[in-house]
Amino acid sequence: MTSASDWQGTVGRSWASEWRRTDVSFSDLTPKLLAAIAREPGATVVDIGCGAGELSIAVAAARPQARVTGVDISGDLVETARSRAVQANLAFELADASQWQPASRPDLYISRHGVMFFSDPQAAFAHLAAQAAPGARMVFSCFRKAAENDWAAAVAALLPKGDSPQASPTAPGPFAFALPEHVLRCMAGWQAVEFEPVDFRYIAGTGPDAVAEAMALFRRIGPAAAALRTLPDAERAKIERRLVDLVEAHHRDGQVAFNAAAWLVSATSDHNDG
Ligand SMILES: C[S@@+](CC[C@H](N)C(=O)[O-])C[C@H]1O[C@@H](n2cnc3c(N)ncnc32)[C@H](O)[C@@H]1O
Repeated sequence: MTSASDWQGTVGRSWASEWRRTDVSFSDLTPKLLAAIAREPGATVVDIGCGAGELSIAVAAARPQARVTGVDISGDLVETARSRAVQANLAFELADASQWQPASRPDLYISRHGVMFFSDPQAAFAHLAAQAAPGARMVFSCFRKAAENDWAAAVAALLPKGDSPQASPTAPGPFAFALPEHVLRCMAGWQAVEFEPVDFRYIAGTGPDAVAEAMALFRRIGPAAAALRTLPDAERAKIERRLVDLVEAHHRDGQVAFNAAAWLVSATSDHNDG
């Protein structure tokens, strides 16, 4: 479970300091998502849960006539996004997207893995539809099941089994939108919802120090991060050793890469002005 307050605190800070590595981790997915976005019209574009802003920046560059706004609940991430952005047609807003009131009605919502963290997803999607222009479109990516995402499943398998009860698989978090039937229930106010499965390589590290890069990423992001932050020294050292073995086993041709699986989801707002 990853809540809004997690994103406003430690998790958001980690993503803000690791934005270069998280952009690399998604680098095999991002062109596929951008290709799906490019098929949609849209002059008032909102990137939901924009994080450090890579998707917003790319779409603002591809649509110089459009106005692009990235919205995120983490102050650290919005600050990072603003520091990267140069385009005049791009702005970033610090806000909870489930309540934010845009100045102009969006005709295209986009998101790279930023829509699975709402505490009340039905209310959030209904709000987004109500704010949108009639017939607005939405295109986002989200992970499929953890079991289909080696980068998460293999790392989680190294960790001690917690004795606390397992959170519901649909609780806000990276895998909350794994099941299309759940996504359909969440997308109040949206119709013609379509799911395209996309398999991609999650690039945990690249370059001459790919193993060190991947270790740096996994220390801050993903299932091992909390354990490595909180476990006693001896246990932490054990997990670090297992993680190095796992990362080295996935190191090939200058990259540490894991199988990953996502949905590209598209939909049309059923909001109309009538
Ligand atoms: C997995 S990260 C993805 C970030 C970014 N889209 C990317 O691809 O790098 C999820 C993002 O959603 C943001 N987020 C979570 N809940 C939110 C909410 N209610 N409103 C706006 N942003 C939210 C987080 O702060 C975080 O930046």
